[in-house]
Amino acid sequence: MCGIVGYVGRSEAAPILLDGLRRLEYRGYDSAGVAIVDGDRVETRKCAGRIAELAKLMTARPPTGTYGISHTRWATHGKATDQNAHPHFDASGKLALVHNGVIENYQALKDELIQEGDNSFTSETDTEVLAHLVGKLYDASSGNGTSPVQTPKARLVNALRTALQQVIGTYGIALVHQDIPDFIVGARRGSPLVLGVGKEENFLASDVSAIVAYTRDAVYLNDFDVVAVERDKFEISSVAGEGSNYEVSKVEFTDEDIKKGDYPHYMLKEIFEQAGSVRDAMRGRLSPEECTAKLGGLNMTTAELRDVCRVVLTGCGTALHAGMIGEYILEQLAGIPTEIEYASEFRHRNTPMTRDTVVFAISQSGETADTLGAMRESKRKGYRSLGICNNVASTIARESDGGVYMHAGPEIGVAATKSFTSQVVILNLIGLLLGRMRHLSTSEGTQIIAALQSLPEQIEEVLNLSDQIKAIAKKYASASGMLFFGRQFNFPVALEGALKMKEITYLFAEGHPSAELKHGIIALVRPDLPSVFIAPDDAVFSKNVNNIEQVKARKGPVIAITSGEGAGRLAKLAEDIITVPKVPDFVSPILTVVPLQLLAYHLAVELGRDVDKPRNLAKSVTVE
Ligand code: F6R
Repeated sequence: MCGIVGYVGRSEAAPILLDGLRRLEYRGYDSAGVAIVDGDRVETRKCAGRIAELAKLMTARPPTGTYGISHTRWATHGKATDQNAHPHFDASGKLALVHNGVIENYQALKDELIQEGDNSFTSETDTEVLAHLVGKLYDASSGNGTSPVQTPKARLVNALRTALQQVIGTYGIALVHQDIPDFIVGARRGSPLVLGVGKEENFLASDVSAIVAYTRDAVYLNDFDVVAVERDKFEISSVAGEGSNYEVSKVEFTDEDIKKGDYPHYMLKEIFEQAGSVRDAMRGRLSPEECTAKLGGLNMTTAELRDVCRVVLTGCGTALHAGMIGEYILEQLAGIPTEIEYASEFRHRNTPMTRDTVVFAISQSGETADTLGAMRESKRKGYRSLGICNNVASTIARESDGGVYMHAGPEIGVAATKSFTSQVVILNLIGLLLGRMRHLSTSEGTQIIAALQSLPEQIEEVLNLSDQIKAIAKKYASASGMLFFGRQFNFPVALEGALKMKEITYLFAEGHPSAELKHGIIALVRPDLPSVFIAPDDAVFSKNVNNIEQVKARKGPVIAITSGEGAGRLAKLAEDIITVPKVPDFVSPILTVVPLQLLAYHLAVELGRDVDKPRNLAKSVTVE
């Protein structure tokens, strides 16, 4: 989603701003721009399209100056055009502003400005309205003879505050004014913004990965924070003008962690990191002596955990699919009634819940607007609201009552891969912990721990199948689409396989419970539409075989992901068989999903798709 980078220091701002934007490129965008204060005027370059286009503009006419702001835009209000690209200016042309989020009442604010005589709007964006409003308030504060004269810096901060008090919506903002040297201002509500603290230089960014090459000291701003940033100092206050608490923390990862290394794509790198990320999700959290999991971050006493009588899991996209598996896991391991809800539905549905319900918001980024909205709604109603997040500094992580971090390391590829397997591991840890307080015996606990501890090696085994899967992908490169089927714990894996396939290959793909085939989907089966069956050697294997027979009878090609004895039994039925290690059903998705990630990846490469930056997609969806 949109990205912000701001810089004030002693170096040339242009290369830093451009480099920061490139580091945010993976998050998805359709236009980009910079504004740098060059002496006594703001120089802007912006255009629709890739950052490479912006770089060309900046090479043709280099803007010089040591402070400025930059932005990658993912169009919401108005198309992806040069005019709509950020930064936007106020009516005087002196103030430049970039913005992530949505100003919901922008039309009413714009009408008011027009009525007052401001006819200088040049874009269709909500952001330009905000720039005009701040500029108007700043200009009006230049001294009316009645109030004490303020410094231009204080006037600009106050103008921003007053404007934001009129705004309904979400924002992460950075702005500069050409009359106020070496000064940038930022603010956030619902859209992340981080201050990078350097030596004689400071940074603003919507994601710390944009600036981690320059500093690892960061202040993660809270909603309603306003930050005034200079070279060697900064001041954080609230939109209401009060002081704000903050702490400078060390960024968990380094610049090296966000490099592709020898991999051609981040997605492939992250698929191959899964043995390690799954290990990290369990590290220090398994207690073989007590045959259970230790999850201190939940911030719940044993008695409170014992009292949980219902669990609601919520998330979006891949995180939702992990939650769907979590429903099976928690019911099987802990025997606790569990529901999974789309975060976007849950937040507005007013679900009746019992007193002892706990809600888990599952989110890699910890910034997904709907998941955050769902968690806030659950908190508002007084339910214990926990997070399963990767980004430790994220809003969900900070606002939740507790939770479990994934520790998967930065996930840069837009298509979520390692975060999914880490989420399923963590749901198993929660299932084990809650289960051991209920009906699970010590020997059952020990078996679950053994199953979890075997996973990293088993993932390595599956990763070794990459070449086989690549050959299958080549074979189906001209397929018109793909269907995915699975049962029980592997039904959500079918959904996830289909999601990966559509996201990065743009092929039509659908996932269904295998048994739904004959309730309608079978009408789609034809020779150019392969069906992928996730059919490990488990209690429902024979039922999956029946469904595979139904597809074969209609000349549909079948790719089977199986385990144990499955390969032998499917030899005559499936065109292609991918065999993963045989494991208990509660951990099975962690292995069966890997071939699906690789299948989507290799097929996307075969089709020449931009794997790490698939069209129309953003890494972190911070708008509803
Ligand atoms: C799929 C994908 C998305 C995300 C979804 C939630 O590959 O990346 O479906 O899973 O947008 O994102 P987080 O987990 O950051 O809340």
